[in-house]
Amino acid sequence: MIVCKSPDEIGRLRAANQLVAEVLCKLQAMVAPGVTTHDLDGLAEASIREFGAVPAFKGYHGYPATLCASVNDAVVHGIPSDDALKDGDIISIDMGVVLDDYYGDSALTVRVGKVSDQAARLMAVTRDALEHAIAQVQVGGWVSDLGHAIQRHVEAHGFSVVREFVGHGIGTQLHEEPQIPNYGEPGRGARLREGMVLAIEPMVNAGRPGVRVLDDGWTAVTLDGGLSAHFEHSVAVTASGPEVLSRRQDEMVVDLDDCVPPATAQLREDLDGRSRQGRGVRA
Ligand code: MF3
Ligand code: CO
Repeated sequence: MIVCKSPDEIGRLRAANQLVAEVLCKLQAMVAPGVTTHDLDGLAEASIREFGAVPAFKGYHGYPATLCASVNDAVVHGIPSDDALKDGDIISIDMGVVLDDYYGDSALTVRVGKVSDQAARLMAVTRDALEHAIAQVQVGGWVSDLGHAIQRHVEAHGFSVVREFVGHGIGTQLHEEPQIPNYGEPGRGARLREGMVLAIEPMVNAGRPGVRVLDDGWTAVTLDGGLSAHFEHSVAVTASGPEVLSRRQDEMVVDLDDCVPPATAQLREDLDGRSRQGRGVRA
């Protein structure tokens, strides 16, 4: 069953997710060569508890930390360690909290110092794929429209979508129905209704989509050793469209016109060129 939340419950989910957003901002600013993922985890846990909240992942099915910190070929669920981050790494930071019985959950991928062009593109494409999925959130839409938008955007840029992990509903549980795959046909599965809250989380590999889990029982890495990125937002379905509950204050909200697939971008330029010639005016 998919639980629809009342405005009061959405308010509490907003508070939990805004705490996640604030802490992720702090962590993002702290990422630099020499810093360890264990350092980040300590700051995250202290900040969460200072606020009277509790880390959501710690103890979840035995997970040992506050953060998932997944570096380079790690896709998700990387366990914080004493290894120092290096210039050129990318790190996906995923964090959840429970505040006042409601969950917050959000993730982003951050560069460490100067990264390769491929890494920068992978991060931008994954972030933009999440924004394309968010743009599909409307009452009467379909859960599968989200995954379809993600897959289309990712594959148009030559990257691939991880199949083994999915997004999810979120509320008084970290993982509620529905599951939200990051791929598939549109117009399938459950309809979106007012009050649903969805944690949308594309995981994107630079190379092949396959992943495997390391012997620690958690860390998922790419099979081919290529880079992977992960962005996640918790989003409420409202009568007036999506409300991104975990939006960070410093986050640049992507203009979807800037992230259309390359072929579409060319088509759009051609069309614009033609209408400019035709009418000679353009606002
Ligand atoms: N955002 C991830 C998810 O929704 C993080 C869960 S990590 C775990 O699955 F440790 F809690 F499992
Ligand atoms: Co999640």
